[in-house]
Amino acid sequence: MKGKFIVLEGPDRCGKSTQAKLLYNYLLEQGFDVVLTREPGGTPTAEKIRQIVLEPGLDVRPVAELLLYEASRAQHTQEKIIPALQAGKIVICERYTMSTCAYQGYARGLDLDMIETVNRIATSGLKPDLTIVFLMSDKYFSSRGEYLFSDRLEREDREFRQNMRLGYKNMVSRTENAYLIDADADVDAIRQQVIELLKEHHITDLCPSVKS
Ligand code: TMP
Repeated sequence: MKGKFIVLEGPDRCGKSTQAKLLYNYLLEQGFDVVLTREPGGTPTAEKIRQIVLEPGLDVRPVAELLLYEASRAQHTQEKIIPALQAGKIVICERYTMSTCAYQGYARGLDLDMIETVNRIATSGLKPDLTIVFLMSDKYFSSRGEYLFSDRLEREDREFRQNMRLGYKNMVSRTENAYLIDADADVDAIRQQVIELLKEHHITDLCPSVKS
């Protein structure tokens, strides 16, 4: 692919949307042709699937949940991400295959090998050039606990979130070009770390043709 594919990952409310916008603006200012997108969603069809999979109170069984995320991903990858990369653009995507491993695998308990197989099918094997995972500290989690996890179901949620968080750590340790960033740090400091990672990975050097 001529372009470069950057994925930002992490638990809900870890600040990745803020960092995605900051990075998008930084790359635009540098004169790059950039696409900012997200999963689930990113195209009209995939956004409709997003509405179904995220609808509060809807009965969605674990395997159906997995396949909905993968259906959204298949549409998004084919319709938007691959064409943009073929055109030499830098694609920034909020969430990708690592989310499915962390949420449906480590947290929901579905088989990780099965998830990796459907991830491969949905993406046609497309892997990110760089994955950055934003993780809050344990302290942050427990300090939010009293408010977020006060009843039985919310306590289950806490376990789910802890497993998902552990999943992210494990995935980063065994994924090429994947890094953890401490999401407790100051927004500007995080932005700087993200830019440094892009430089270290020659993301910007390798796309001179798309500079305007
Ligand atoms: P978002 O609000 O960050 O866009 O993500 C929507 C939710 O979907 C978030 O709770 C994470 C979850 N999710 C999964 O469980 N599996 C996936 O594969 C993806 C992409 C997201």
